[in-house]
Amino acid sequence: MKINNQHYHTIWIEENIPDIIHIIDQRKLPFIFEIIHLKTAEEVAESIINMAVRGAPLIGVAAAYGMYLSLLNYRGADLRSHILETAWLLKSTRPTAINLEFAIQESIERVIGCRDQSTAIKAALEYATELRDQEIKNSSMIGYAGLPIIRNKYKTLGRTVNILTHCNAGWLACIDWGTALAPIYKAAREGIPVHVWVDETRPRNQGARLTAYELKEEGIPHTVICDNTGGHLMQRGMVDIVIVGSDRTSPEGDVTNKIGTYLKALAAHDNNIPVYAALPSSSIDWQIEDMNKVPIEERDPIEVTSIEGWDGTEISKVELCPVGTKAANYGFDVTPSRLITGLITERGVCLADKSSILSLFPERK
Ligand code: MRU
Repeated sequence: MKINNQHYHTIWIEENIPDIIHIIDQRKLPFIFEIIHLKTAEEVAESIINMAVRGAPLIGVAAAYGMYLSLLNYRGADLRSHILETAWLLKSTRPTAINLEFAIQESIERVIGCRDQSTAIKAALEYATELRDQEIKNSSMIGYAGLPIIRNKYKTLGRTVNILTHCNAGWLACIDWGTALAPIYKAAREGIPVHVWVDETRPRNQGARLTAYELKEEGIPHTVICDNTGGHLMQRGMVDIVIVGSDRTSPEGDVTNKIGTYLKALAAHDNNIPVYAALPSSSIDWQIEDMNKVPIEERDPIEVTSIEGWDGTEISKVELCPVGTKAANYGFDVTPSRLITGLITERGVCLADKSSILSLFPERK
């Protein structure tokens, strides 16, 4: 996608500089556009923890590049232990998005049996590049799969389609295009009039800062709302579709996503508004049996008791609560499949239930 008319991905290697991973520092957007150079797996891990990179597909790809960097920099003799230690380091950065685990596991499988370090380096880089390219394709395919939902709504309504989204599930959360935003980008490029209600998404404000930024760059009409506003808009007929992303979806169609998604789905259900979760298959946890067991990230309460913004000169933080106030900062929640109208995947749209999901992914039967 474009920033000031220049095409960017969220993570890349530059030609002839194979030992540096480039990322966009998402902590500074939309105020400052800055590129960070990552040279070690530790730096990759830190960038995932501090959310310079974020979003389920992107942290998966970042971790795969982290595996590559750790092999590239290794100077010891026990390659196997080193691979497993790096995998543990990267996996322990954030618990909820399954993409992270998926990418690390796949990378281990590609490199662990390699006969020497240089073959392992090559295999790790090949995998990271392959995953990155695959996620770009997945996002674009999700866009095409979800487009008819918006197009049909437009045909029925004959006016601008109002779509509500939560968090940032756009190209910044992926490598390009996005998940929830991909169908919106495709629809807008097709000339369908759309307007996006953007939940601000406290405490990190991914909606207000990142989704609004992306939509502005893409020239798509949008309005940022407080997280509690969606229900009211739905009651007044001002929301036609809800589209969100997902950090971990079960084979039964339960969707883990940014905290607050569940409340939006409840309100939408009460108002007969369709709710779609858009996700690549790398966000499906094929193993999980009980969604109450999804590890829900709990972050520093300071993100709740303070707020960060631009004061005209720099990004700064101000306190919101009385000193010493206790706060809880749960990052994600689970929306049960009964509240989800459909899943938009790279293989098409399906109902949020096991047989429909397996009909798109028969190899998982
Ligand atoms: O905490 P974040 O910013 O990494 O959370 C991201 C989300 O919840 C997104 O909506 C998500 O990863 C789903 S699809 C890209």
